Amino acid sequence: MSLSQFLLIQLLILLVCFTFQSTATKKNVLLILVDDLRHLSDEMVILPNVKKLVNEGANFKNAYTQQALCAPSRNSMLTGRRPDSLRLYDFYNYWRDKVGNFTTLPQFFKDNGYETYSIGKVFHPGISSNFTDDYPYSWSQQPYHPPTEKYKDAAVCKDEETKKLQSNLLCPVNVRHQPGGTLPDLQSLGHAVDFLSNRNSSRPFFLAVGFYKPHIPIKYPEEYLARIPINKVSPPRHPFMSPNTPLVSWHPWTDIRRRDDIARLNISFPFGTMPYEWSLKIRQNYYAAATYVDDLIGELLSYVDRRNTIVVLTSDHGWSLGENGLWAKYSNFDVALKVPLIFSAPGIHSRNIHTPVELVDIFPTLVDLSGLSHNIPKCNKLDKSLLCFEGKSLKPFMVDDYTTFGSHFAISQYPRPSVYPKKNSDKPRLKYIKIMGYSIKTKRFRYTEWVSFNNTLFTVDWNKLFGLELYDHLTDPDESNNLYLVHKYKNIKQYLSRLLRSHVNRYNTN
Ligand SMILES: *[C@@H]1O[C@H](CO)[C@@H](O)[C@H](O)[C@H]1NC(C)=O
Ligand SMILES: *[C@@H]1O[C@H](CO)[C@@H](O)[C@H](O)[C@H]1NC(C)=O
Ligand SMILES: *[C@@H]1O[C@H](CO)[C@@H](O)[C@H](O)[C@H]1NC(C)=O
Ligand SMILES: *[C@@H]1O[C@H](CO)[C@@H](O)[C@H](O)[C@H]1NC(C)=O
Repeated sequence: MSLSQFLLIQLLILLVCFTFQSTATKKNVLLILVDDLRHLSDEMVILPNVKKLVNEGANFKNAYTQQALCAPSRNSMLTGRRPDSLRLYDFYNYWRDKVGNFTTLPQFFKDNGYETYSIGKVFHPGISSNFTDDYPYSWSQQPYHPPTEKYKDAAVCKDEETKKLQSNLLCPVNVRHQPGGTLPDLQSLGHAVDFLSNRNSSRPFFLAVGFYKPHIPIKYPEEYLARIPINKVSPPRHPFMSPNTPLVSWHPWTDIRRRDDIARLNISFPFGTMPYEWSLKIRQNYYAAATYVDDLIGELLSYVDRRNTIVVLTSDHGWSLGENGLWAKYSNFDVALKVPLIFSAPGIHSRNIHTPVELVDIFPTLVDLSGLSHNIPKCNKLDKSLLCFEGKSLKPFMVDDYTTFGSHFAISQYPRPSVYPKKNSDKPRLKYIKIMGYSIKTKRFRYTEWVSFNNTLFTVDWNKLFGLELYDHLTDPDESNNLYLVHKYKNIKQYLSRLLRSHVNRYNTN
């Protein structure tokens, strides 16, 4: 054998080993997305299965969505780009056709040999994912939707007062009496279990499971209501809008008022508040629905081989439960922006991380944890490259000793049609958006500027301000006292304003 033949054989052996190793070490990914689940860990409600995951993994206690609305948040998380970069603040724009052919998180894994599959609500359905959940680009096969999701707004809620079946906000049900004798999340769970149990493929998988609850209507198996006795439910700590909150930060939670049980209460528009007794009832039902989803998560995880799977659990945004007089999402308050974010995988230390992080960080983090690539660039201003990151990998927090790492902050935004709350203030369509609220969360502060927004040029005018908010979470975690005029905070306000503006200007057309 000549030397060159010998070297060739050595090279072949090396190649075979390398290929074998890289497929053998590829970990599966399970992304669990819960719809409208706020960060609950510090409250009375215990989610035992989420807690178990927390105890086994890296728990980001200050993780924030980029916008507290389903479609912008999900597209942002799944492309790793901010709403400004996708030009999506409502439900009506598909990035591939209108902005750029950006690679998504599941698509990246698909392109790297993974079988990718979507079950339930992962992309927001409709225009923003081209009515296909971005299939075939993101997924190896057609996404699964539970058939009973078509009854989501059906009048199936037994009303305590009228004794009729209505389209209520609060909707504990007897599952056997529901159409098909089941509920959408139960069907999704069954389908996910089938997928995990019956796969023959030797390829690794990227499975995304999106549960629909506790999103309204708060419809769930009635037995979960008994787990949350009403006398154990505490009211919101600051149930009224505080006098120094700018009007533009208020949203009238129109879709809550509209449900049959709430409409009956005749709450005046736009500032009327929820009666005390109903505040408690909504909180009780929301917690009960969250424990229902927690059970589904526990069941799902029991089918996952945790030794070779990266599990991520998060939500698209938080939910106000009566704080500052507000309900649902649609705002820049901390309760609407903060989400659970937990990573669990072999090699990840169990720990709490308090540094603010963002949902746009999930894409780079999973790429980093999976070891698939180390050189995806950071996006530049209006970057049209198909693959670049606006967030950053959170892996250093999980495997190194970076618990108090650096000067991280989270940026979020929310659009408004006007300062004074109107019927469409909760979710204005692009053509009505006149104001954008940009918000920055540092470890201690939340600072928000509501500024003029041009909905055709996508520019902001920082000189036209409609409201400013500064909250000191050290003394006021409930954001009930706006400090923007307090002299003592003048310097921190200026500092946060500069930081916020320079960061926002990096991604929009200014
Ligand atoms: C967009 O990207 C997909 C997947 O990489 C590719 O198949 C498709 O041709 C691209 N579309 C355009 C218009 O470039
Ligand atoms: C989105 O859907 C429309 C209508 O089905 C289709 O014409 C268009 O090509 C789709 N966009 C992409 C990027 O696939
Ligand atoms: C796996 O293989 C079995 C036996 O060949 C087959 O019945 C089953 O449908 C396959 N499962 C999938 C998900 O392809
Ligand atoms: C709400 O308004 C309707 C119609 O004006 C009235 O019949 C009803 O009694 C009111 N209910 C409450 C709780 O005030």
